[in-house]
Amino acid sequence: MTITSNGYQSGFGNEFATEAVTGALPVGRNSPQRVAHGLYAEQISGTAFTAPRHANRRSWLYRIRPAAMHGAFAACAGASRFHNEFDDAPISPDQLRWSPLPMPAEGVDFVDGLFTMAGNGSPASQNGVGIHVYAANRDMRGRWFYDADGELLIVPQQGRLHIETELGVLDVEPQEIAVIPRGIRFAVTLPDGEARGYVCENFGAMLRLPDLGPIGSNGLANPRDFLAPNAAYEDVEGDFELVAKFQGHLWRADIGHSPIDVVAWHGNYAPYKYDLRLFNTIGSISYDHPDPSIFLVLHSPSDTAGTSNMDFVIFPPRWLVAQDTFRPPWFHRNIASEFMGLVHGAYDAKAEGFVPGGASLHNSMTGHGPDAATFEKASAADLSKPDVIRDTMAFMFETRAVIRPTKQALDAAHRQRDYQACWAGLQKHFDAGR
Ligand SMILES: [Fe+2]
Repeated sequence: MTITSNGYQSGFGNEFATEAVTGALPVGRNSPQRVAHGLYAEQISGTAFTAPRHANRRSWLYRIRPAAMHGAFAACAGASRFHNEFDDAPISPDQLRWSPLPMPAEGVDFVDGLFTMAGNGSPASQNGVGIHVYAANRDMRGRWFYDADGELLIVPQQGRLHIETELGVLDVEPQEIAVIPRGIRFAVTLPDGEARGYVCENFGAMLRLPDLGPIGSNGLANPRDFLAPNAAYEDVEGDFELVAKFQGHLWRADIGHSPIDVVAWHGNYAPYKYDLRLFNTIGSISYDHPDPSIFLVLHSPSDTAGTSNMDFVIFPPRWLVAQDTFRPPWFHRNIASEFMGLVHGAYDAKAEGFVPGGASLHNSMTGHGPDAATFEKASAADLSKPDVIRDTMAFMFETRAVIRPTKQALDAAHRQRDYQACWAGLQKHFDAGR
């Protein structure tokens, strides 16, 4: 059966409160002696109990059965393409690029359709990220998943996702994102029959909105545009399966009921969605570009101030008006490492080869930037007119640590082994006498 969305609550990290049955939510206490309607009370904590109040995240769930009720876990049989083995191949400083992950031939669901591209850190150290792509064409039925290793930032590129979570339903489409906190159980069905996209599995501190500094109190991603689900549940029994990702590996257990049985909840640890088209894009109205941190949607801070474990950055539609300025993204090298994807349209620094569903990886201090065709065009552009980039939605998972591609990503048939050729045509223009 399908649980339909019960609507959303607006805000980022708010103290939400929602009930799908009137009176299910206790008033004045979290765990009364007897919860209304015979429900069980259960807390899920996503941060340390003693984390500072502004960063402290936990929710209280009022559910038909506690999360403890399931069979013993056993390692999932067979080799999964979804893992955290980030040192199974030698790493080089090469620029890397991939075409889209091919759609599977047979019925493959969201979890089985995950293919690990790269990553750094580890679940055990609680820092770093896993970077995955997915291609799926089967609904998860009688099968639920949770990730104990990290929070999941899901970036659909093709096909909608109907995500039934313990705390309610998220319906997302390309150009929206969904974030599923660590430990929250969910199932994904595919309203369009097939789906493809990207996932950042964040082992570090939970994603949060950036401080805005001199930008002021508004701008970039606005808090009210983040939507957490209202409570929605099902009361279903059967021979079902619960899949867990724990310390880099997949485990399965029998479960005799649907775990999507939370009738009411309150708290600030919840899944959410955000429409990237609502991003308030800020840029130069005089000359030059700000650094790409101006496009920051969400970040996972590290223990070093100003240096993120992971930044989620987007390159949305925007006007380019800077004068006496090379308007596309410039040539650059960074200490940070950059995994890029394209959700929609074209990216303004590449004439061809970087297509929706594709990906690129430019690691620490590896030179990159516009290809030869883009450079020549932008160098001759008429700057008396603004450029407008309408059809685009690119994004970047940018990390402090080097992003290590997996062996399966390096060996993949859809890796573009001639990627470096895109810079080969850059002409020497130097003339000391000119
Ligand atoms: Fe870059």
